[in-house]
Amino acid sequence: MCGIIGILGNAPAAPRLVEALKRLEYRGYDSAGVATLENGAIKRRRAAGKLANLERVLAEEPLAGVTGIGHTRWATHGAPTTGNAHPHATDKVAIVHNGIIENFRALREELKNAGRKFSSETDSEVIAHLITHYLDKGQSPEQAAIAAVRRLEGAFGIAVLFAGEEVVLIGARKGSPLAVGLGDGEMFLGSDAIAVSPFTTRVMFLDEGDIAVLSRTSVKVLDADGKQVERKVHIFAGGVAAVEKGNHRHFMQKEIYEQPETVGRTITRYVNAFEERIEMPDFGGVDLNAESAVIIGCGTAHYAGRVAEYWLEQIAGISVETDIASEFRYRKPAFGKSAFSVFVSQSGETADTLAALRYCKDNGLKTLAVVNVPESTIWREADARLPTLAGPEIGVASTKAFTAQLSALAALAIAVGRARGTLSSDDERRLVRTLMEAPRLIAEALGAEPEIEKIAQELSHARDVLYLGRGVHYPIALEGALKLKEISYIHAEGYAAGELKHGPIALIDEATPVVVVAPHDALFEKTLSNMQEVNARGGKLIVITDAAGAAAVSEIAQHIILAPACDPFVAPLVYSIPIQLLAYFTAVHKGTDVDQPRNLAKSVTVE
Ligand code: F6R
Repeated sequence: MCGIIGILGNAPAAPRLVEALKRLEYRGYDSAGVATLENGAIKRRRAAGKLANLERVLAEEPLAGVTGIGHTRWATHGAPTTGNAHPHATDKVAIVHNGIIENFRALREELKNAGRKFSSETDSEVIAHLITHYLDKGQSPEQAAIAAVRRLEGAFGIAVLFAGEEVVLIGARKGSPLAVGLGDGEMFLGSDAIAVSPFTTRVMFLDEGDIAVLSRTSVKVLDADGKQVERKVHIFAGGVAAVEKGNHRHFMQKEIYEQPETVGRTITRYVNAFEERIEMPDFGGVDLNAESAVIIGCGTAHYAGRVAEYWLEQIAGISVETDIASEFRYRKPAFGKSAFSVFVSQSGETADTLAALRYCKDNGLKTLAVVNVPESTIWREADARLPTLAGPEIGVASTKAFTAQLSALAALAIAVGRARGTLSSDDERRLVRTLMEAPRLIAEALGAEPEIEKIAQELSHARDVLYLGRGVHYPIALEGALKLKEISYIHAEGYAAGELKHGPIALIDEATPVVVVAPHDALFEKTLSNMQEVNARGGKLIVITDAAGAAAVSEIAQHIILAPACDPFVAPLVYSIPIQLLAYFTAVHKGTDVDQPRNLAKSVTVE
């Protein structure tokens, strides 16, 4: 999950490394470090905590040199201390690593027995010692890197800097992504295209098992068999401009407010507004007229899939299975005769989702990716893709990516309905018209901010919060609970409203607020009964509903958050807004680090 940057440049490296790391903090932010070559010698600066701490260290003790590597860490092995921060180095080599080296214990033992001294608790440090071990045997940097990489088991993207070698930088990947940026007389390595975007728009993505040997003017790529290969150069124009907060206090707030636009952009990608029809891109052989579909994702992306399950079943009459990628990949799931699979991911790099996609491919299923980051691994490996056009999402808690996923999946549900003949043209037109109202309704829902901010102040004192929803709003309740816990650190659980009496009702007391997502739809009366049950037990209800629902709950709700009345089809998109704002303002009242909550990372590239 960590962020990697490598620079073989012509300008001072340290400020450029920090510049790139700022764009990579979304991959982890519990420590950071850089190493450069000063007159051929490896010099390092590292700091625990946010990048700002490393910047302070560099201000006090600057680093010279035009060649270097940098890293922002999300700890797996070893606490987030300065000593465990990357780069890890010997006198001959410095490395930065993203991933997990599974056989690090055996390698560490072997290298210790050979007299090498370790100074960190990380799995990564073995890479530096292993390469040094081969250099000590007289191998060239390229030979030593290849020999070491061959012995590594697990997942890695690495960049290697060699003492005395101003003209070589080596990168290798297996399981974790790595990109090469091709500059003008300069070369770069990055854990993704965003890392190298401040320096170049020409990007080459390494394949599984590739090793890249960089000079300032050339890239030699060796594949897993050691054969020299060519990899395509892409022009990547994204990533540079989008990392400003504008007038907003946090990226998350900015991203919540962008949703009328990002949802609109995503919907229009799939809608022919003139004919009121869905127009899908080339599906690369994915047959939407299948008997069943599987939808896989993690966290928020999984909840988007859960909403889509209701849509696909109700609109297209197709049997749908949704699962969390980390469970799915080890379940050995079986598939019916004709099925397609859908993978939902903002980053397109989530390790479990990628593994699930590969499992489906290996089992003969066509794969369709709903992905936000173009050219990410899931994007590239899927048979077909439905891009979400949310733009770069910087806040660690996903907001605009979620509603963009819902937008693309809503369009998919209509397309599947048409392919399976369950939707008439008139029905399709009605649904498309409804979907096109979503941006306006989302803008209206944002208008509840002042009320939500007040409620959030009270909620910030809670220790536990329950979220309830029924039908398509059950996954929205799950998403609401996830949002609250990840940024405010308040314990929250989402339940299907009807499940309350099967256990969770025991938790109800005056100190446990219950947030209910309940538009006045066909299931409202059922959810109202559940609200009565909460009220009867002294529970405090915060009800997110429309005007008709508000009239029905005015006697029992402690607080009402008003959402615009809308068609049930787009309600999940609209009701996502209040749950996001509620989590956001609760976290602001608690004073947590909203954009970079503790222990989390934006892109989860390890299992
Ligand atoms: C929650 C959140 C995570 C991600 C999950 C999947 O706010 O952001 O739960 O949704 O880690 O990430 P992607 O979508 O990048 O596969």
